[in-house]
Amino acid sequence: MPAPDLDAIVSLAKRRGFVFPSAEIYGGFANAYDYGPLGVELKRNIREAWWRALVRERDDVVGLDAAMLTNPEVWVASGHTETFHDPLVDCRACRRRFRPDHIEEGQYGEAARDDEGRWRCPNCGGELTEPRLFNLMFRTEVGAVAGEGATAYLPPETAQGMFVNFKGVKDAMRRKLPFGIAQARVSFRNEITPGRFVFRTLEFEQMEMEYFCRPESAAGWHRYWIDERLRWYEEVIGIDPARLRVRAHEPEELSHYSAGTSDIEYRFPWGWGELEGIANRTDYDLRAHAEHSGQDLSYFDEETGERFTPYVIEPAAGLTRTLAVAMLEAYAVEPDENGRDRTVLRFPAAIAPVKVAVLPLSKKPALTPMARRVHQLIRPFWMTQYDETQSIGRRYRRQDEIGTPLCVTVDFATLEDEAVTIRERDSQAQTRVPIAGLVDALAERLPGVR
Ligand code: GAP
Repeated sequence: MPAPDLDAIVSLAKRRGFVFPSAEIYGGFANAYDYGPLGVELKRNIREAWWRALVRERDDVVGLDAAMLTNPEVWVASGHTETFHDPLVDCRACRRRFRPDHIEEGQYGEAARDDEGRWRCPNCGGELTEPRLFNLMFRTEVGAVAGEGATAYLPPETAQGMFVNFKGVKDAMRRKLPFGIAQARVSFRNEITPGRFVFRTLEFEQMEMEYFCRPESAAGWHRYWIDERLRWYEEVIGIDPARLRVRAHEPEELSHYSAGTSDIEYRFPWGWGELEGIANRTDYDLRAHAEHSGQDLSYFDEETGERFTPYVIEPAAGLTRTLAVAMLEAYAVEPDENGRDRTVLRFPAAIAPVKVAVLPLSKKPALTPMARRVHQLIRPFWMTQYDETQSIGRRYRRQDEIGTPLCVTVDFATLEDEAVTIRERDSQAQTRVPIAGLVDALAERLPGVR
């Protein structure tokens, strides 16, 4: 099925409480979004699925949650203060700022050029300045006395937390190579972008893992992690493989630390875009931090008697970007049981914000105590919703539209036979089950889902 256009997703996301433009009552804020009651569940579920695959289900990866505001020397050693720049041009007339590559790629629509072939402002057609480099890190000040504090930076990636804690984690957890350290957290970049929903935002969540290994094994681990991560997007997030590809960076694209990066890309409605970068960072970061801090960050291999600086393979994923892709992939408009159009988000059950909705057939007081009892029975196991307003047909539509895999309907017969109806989102099939066996019947339909 073709991916839907972005407008359909943006509109559903707002209407149903997934993602709102940030601070909309004040007119919003460019490239900032707020995650609503369903968005926060979806985001949490994707993060959990990642954590399960990379940390909980593996022996060789451990987790971390490093401070965001930290010693600014970290960013000097990592190269971010020196090299983490975007070239930007300003419009001399309307003062808007753009990335020249985005103008050239047509991301702001068709932009004009002057007689000499130079690009004009996509907003007002005004003259643009020559490109200048701007650092993407947000700066702030730490300290009690205004103006005398130390400069600190909001982290533009999570990775450095793993490098500066490499020795601490290795010693505390008695780790031998190869092993990884994983972290999922917010990062910040002062991005100038043409506003494509949560694709590129000022504040976003990343899910990163640094996998430390022997230098000669790095190429093999690089291939291994590309395959693993591709499989995760297909099997866990449910992305159609036809809309995924792996693209190796050209040498001139590589980050300052990378000996080779392959991106997992998704075919967004506007074209291919990065979901995750998987880089061979060599020993660049550990060496840089060792030199800069004066600490020994080498590794002693007890079996071979060698001392060396490990290489690092880094699968670096965007959580908020994955959330947008999960919504794009799940979206479908198709006939309902009465042949009318329904909008449905066919999320894999593990990431669906709500797993089970309990719906009394009507709001009649006679049904309420029984329906509440059924709800209490299942809510310790799954994220649930209880909904008794409007017709049952409308409530099914609402649950389809937010991607709830199962609905449990309590009707008047339930009062007699202590049985309820399970309705499945995808097949729309309905099955009658006794309340006494309801939890097992739901668990059977939600294998491995919590
Ligand atoms: N530690 C390496 C690193 O940060 P990156 O390719 O710059 O690599 C990794 O970022 C992932 O983070 C990207 O593939 C993307 O999914 C996500 N990402 C980066 N910048 C983003 C932004 N401004 N908004 C949303 N997601 C972003």
